[in-house]
Amino acid sequence: MENSLLEATAFGVIPVVEVDGVAEADALAESLLEAGLGVVEVTFRTHAAAEVIARIVERYPDMIVGAGTVIDQRDLHRAAEAGARFALAPGLSPRMLDLAAEAGFAYVPGAMTPSDLQAGIERGIRTFKFFPAMPAGGIPFLRAISAPFALHGLRFIPTGGVSVTNLGEWLREPAVAAVGGTWIASRAMIRSGDWAGIRRNAGEALRMARE
Ligand code: 3PG
Repeated sequence: MENSLLEATAFGVIPVVEVDGVAEADALAESLLEAGLGVVEVTFRTHAAAEVIARIVERYPDMIVGAGTVIDQRDLHRAAEAGARFALAPGLSPRMLDLAAEAGFAYVPGAMTPSDLQAGIERGIRTFKFFPAMPAGGIPFLRAISAPFALHGLRFIPTGGVSVTNLGEWLREPAVAAVGGTWIASRAMIRSGDWAGIRRNAGEALRMARE
């Protein structure tokens, strides 16, 4: 696995965030860091994403910042320019894999079918986002679709319905590198400035990931 992905997954849990404005970036980064969680995936689901990434990268060097929902060339460039160390997407686009490879940027495509896995393997991808993890069938489904590729050393980041109730089970799966999810710092919590709640969720998630 590429270094930036190894660092990002080392925490076992990656908060997936939607941030509406750069004004929320500092308090968000500080809340996560205070809880000991030095990684965040800022999704391109708001217009502020690139600015938020740049702000956290600039002000909080201890935070490993990734970009989420990077599904086109423009956002890939914006994520890289803002200083993101890696990017993820909900699905797999061969074109995006090629663009990321050309740019030398760590890119984690989403996979939900054996065809997605084959398309990624063909292009040298070994780490996939498994999305949407719970609605798709959870751990039994991940085991079933990854079994034929046992010789390829695939690693997964399940997201979608992952929470404190199932995080431990996911992390006990040998192929799971880390889990991700919005529950740690939901859009509503960020909007309302519930930094204490975010700190609490991040601390709890981290404790469970370390068990
Ligand atoms: C993602 O992009 O990873 C998902 O939106 C996370 O899903 P969740 O909201 O169920 O955590």
